[in-house]
Amino acid sequence: MSQENLDATADQPDDHGLARARELVNAAAHVLVFTGAGMSAECGIPTFRGAGGLWNRFRAEDLATPTAFARDPRLVWEWYGWRRGLVTSSRPGRAHAAVAERAARGGLTVVTQNVDGLHERSARDRGVPPHHTIALHGSLFRTRCTDCGNVEWDESTVDSSGEETLPRCELCGSLLRPDIVWFGEALDPELLERAFRSAREADVCIVVGTSARVEPAASIPRVTRAGGRAVIEINPESTSVSSRERLAFRGGAEDWLPRLLE
Ligand code: OAD
Ligand code: ZN
Repeated sequence: MSQENLDATADQPDDHGLARARELVNAAAHVLVFTGAGMSAECGIPTFRGAGGLWNRFRAEDLATPTAFARDPRLVWEWYGWRRGLVTSSRPGRAHAAVAERAARGGLTVVTQNVDGLHERSARDRGVPPHHTIALHGSLFRTRCTDCGNVEWDESTVDSSGEETLPRCELCGSLLRPDIVWFGEALDPELLERAFRSAREADVCIVVGTSARVEPAASIPRVTRAGGRAVIEINPESTSVSSRERLAFRGGAEDWLPRLLE
């Protein structure tokens, strides 16, 4: 489906546009849902950019880089411990449910930049196998040893009261770090390859709640578009994705995704 055949306009999503988008999604053998922080905003988890965004209040250079961790691991763990706590006390919302329900019927892959695990939780509740979610930026609930590289799931509360209380590797005793991709670090090449393959194979890519400012993830919708397939955006604000798409729905994920996927 080429862009010229689509009916809605970016600033005037109407019932006809929604009907057209639903038709595309229903007809698709492979749907890719590509998500960012806005996907979880209505679950009470703050986004990074835009109104109320974390990067307005905190500096990424102090909290989300290897240099920051080497300089002050306690501060970095305090931040990730706080975010882990926020997510632990929240639950997947209606938007996650809509995605997981369609995934349970088959033919849907999620590629997410989110580290909150809410897609995975929602999918697990519906018996969807874990590989349907590709979490490009890691997980708040995984640690990685700074020395031996051992990776473990960890949902515990982080004690960041001092450097001596920070989590340590059970194999070698070295300091653990969050298993999250920080600025300046490479993404897991295997996950990235799977994500781009999904983008190439998708009949439609639904982009939800991302400012599309962080590469290489931000290129994913472009790959689907380059193959002549439809890209649909859900975001209350306009982004570099919406400027190219005619099927851009302005509003929250919980409002639009269930209507699109039901
Ligand atoms: P951003 O915070 O950059 O963008 C969030 C987007 O969500 C914005 O475009 C908002 O307009 C939109 N939004 C807000 N509320 C929404 C709602 N209720 N429904 C739908 N959309 C909504 O988040 P990302 O694009 O995910 O990196 O940021 C990319 C990466 O930068 C993140 O993965 C993170 C960050 O630094 C790591 O954690 C490694
Ligand atoms: Zn170790």
